[in-house]
Amino acid sequence: MSKIRPLADLREASPVVLPSLLLCDFGNLEREVQELEAAGVRGYHLDVMDGHFVPNMSYGLPIVEAMRRLTDLPLDVHLMISDPGKYVRRFAEAGADVLTIHAEAVEDPRPVLEEIRELGVGAGLAVNPATPVTKIEPALSLCHLVLVMSVVPGFGGQAFDEGALDKLRTLRRQLPDDVLLEVDGGVNEATISACGEAGAQLLVAGSAIFGKSDYAAAVAKLTRLAGANR
Ligand code: DX5
Ligand code: ZN
Repeated sequence: MSKIRPLADLREASPVVLPSLLLCDFGNLEREVQELEAAGVRGYHLDVMDGHFVPNMSYGLPIVEAMRRLTDLPLDVHLMISDPGKYVRRFAEAGADVLTIHAEAVEDPRPVLEEIRELGVGAGLAVNPATPVTKIEPALSLCHLVLVMSVVPGFGGQAFDEGALDKLRTLRRQLPDDVLLEVDGGVNEATISACGEAGAQLLVAGSAIFGKSDYAAAVAKLTRLAGANR
């Protein structure tokens, strides 16, 4: 079992809906965190984008540091960046509890995953819709978490790619029980039950939460639907 407490907390609480910090109001981050925690969220998914690995830029270390000051809940940091190995130490020092790199951003994810583990942080590996599960099989033994993208990364508010469901089912069969399975992109009231049924334990939601005025109602409904068919 992983010795990293935030991972164990998320596993015990699963299915967990994680708000994706991309479409939130960054001008009022403290208020957003207060509202989300009042709504019962169990952690945060931070979408770091470099404008190179993905055709969009979001934020980097300062927002991770700010979130670390604002909450004790797990920070699940999704690195949509090229050459992530250059930055994992600084993101760990900034307060990330999980660092997920993209299989498409590195020649071989294993050395970077090993470094993340040595930093005492959860090691995650993400696959885009076009990347087959076979590509990451050699690295699965180093993963605390596997992230199946159900959109092409770079933007919130995109349509869910159903191909993610087969990948989730395949990975759930292959992965040991203590490895967390996460899905990200287009997860909403219409798609989340199928994700939970396919084995996703962490379900990232951006527009399905931040597009609503009542965060508590949105998080509660998504969480109920995520566990509906498990
Ligand atoms: C996309 C990000 C996702 C996205 C989720 O590159 O990794 O986390 O922000 O937003 P929705 O839920 O609106 O697709
Ligand atoms: Zn993400």
